Amino acid sequence: MKTIIEPFRIKVVEPITMTTSEQREQRLREANFNLFKLKARDVLIDLLTDSGTGAMSSDQWAGVMRGDESYAGAESFFRFQDVLRRITGIENVLPTHQGRASERILFELVCTPGCIIPNNNHFDTTRANVEHSGGQAVDLVIPEGRIAKSRHPFKGNMDVARLEALFESVGADRIPLVMVTITNNSGGGQPVSLENLRAVRAVCDKFHTPLFLDACRFAENAYFIKLREPGQSHRNAAEIAREVFSLADGATISAKKDGLVNIGGVLLMRDPALARRASNLLIMTEGFVSYGGVAGRDLEAMAQGFEEVLNEDYLQYRIRSADYLAGKLMSAGIAIVEPLGGHAIYVDATAFCPHIPPEHFPGQALAVGLYRHAGIRTCEIGSVMFGAGGHHVDMELVRFALPRRVYTQSHIDYVAEASGELFEKRSSLRGLRIVEEPTTLRHFSAAFEEIQ
Ligand code: F0G
Repeated sequence: MKTIIEPFRIKVVEPITMTTSEQREQRLREANFNLFKLKARDVLIDLLTDSGTGAMSSDQWAGVMRGDESYAGAESFFRFQDVLRRITGIENVLPTHQGRASERILFELVCTPGCIIPNNNHFDTTRANVEHSGGQAVDLVIPEGRIAKSRHPFKGNMDVARLEALFESVGADRIPLVMVTITNNSGGGQPVSLENLRAVRAVCDKFHTPLFLDACRFAENAYFIKLREPGQSHRNAAEIAREVFSLADGATISAKKDGLVNIGGVLLMRDPALARRASNLLIMTEGFVSYGGVAGRDLEAMAQGFEEVLNEDYLQYRIRSADYLAGKLMSAGIAIVEPLGGHAIYVDATAFCPHIPPEHFPGQALAVGLYRHAGIRTCEIGSVMFGAGGHHVDMELVRFALPRRVYTQSHIDYVAEASGELFEKRSSLRGLRIVEEPTTLRHFSAAFEEIQ
């Protein structure tokens, strides 16, 4: 059957608000054309992020009621620990409030001034935490991963030869660990193959260096391995995920993605000595080891979410629905990053608005245009986000991130139709200039004005 159906039915509904085009025009001006400054109630379909925006299942809500809120040794912690040990095979499991808290603890422990942390592509918070701890974050994704049109099936792979060359040139002493992000969010949500992870592991072994995963979207990555990697189609996502984790010495996870929860994170480590140091830091800054800054009910929701996310009906629906939207956008003539990643569609804003030069932010113009036209909120990933101080940006993209289990096929049809209509009148899109910006992470708060 070609029809995708959502593998769930709906028990609770949350109204979304229709706005008139006059209202949206006014809201845009009040927000200085920065979509982070809109009130969520003024957004009809919110594709800003897939992080913490998913819908929980009835079993997760049942877990919320079961949550054991004891300060120490809560039952909910043991359930959480059991599930993560079973999925990953990694013994030491620490809860945190979200991914960046796990990153902060890890890098504070391993980084020394002048150290280097290689990754396929660091996500912004990973990079910021490495740098905050005195290290240098280096991106070593394969060359295909930087080209929107390249159709390599695993564009998130790390360039193993460059990794080895880095070890040779700076010495293993300066590289406390290697990280690989699955899937590679900053590079278009692209997966990493088992073969590549094995090769990265071999380099790490050669230089006696630990390998850590940034495993926020490990289930989507495992499903891509099943779909795209030769010899993997007979295995289930859980088995593949288990093998992926078996190659690593630890992982940081934001449970707001494949944990299917609204808040929560995990820090995993095999080394008991490192785990003891991490526990001490966790107690000092996040909370006791059996709750790590979240409530017992959150641990229950995470435990259940991590189990549900490996369900193959769910994963098939998840990847097929992104594919469905991508197919509709492409048949309307809109260029996207191909092949498709897991959690989002990345539209090529340069191709969408060739009349707007990078310095006038084509991605921001498109994102503003989509909100103005149809109340849809997306996110610029281009010169606004990464181009501060004249920094060169490879691609001007707009991310349509898909919250998990939230929108139905008709919502997605609406997004596709609205995008197609906007594409038809793309010459009316206007570039913007920044009139006020903060010193860091300007995309969250910069003020823009449209160029007439
Ligand atoms: N690593 C990756 C690959 C991520 O995508 C994110 C978050 C994090 C780490 C940090 O996790 O938000 O729980 O602290 N990505 C979100 C996004 C914010 O919109 O892509 P966090």
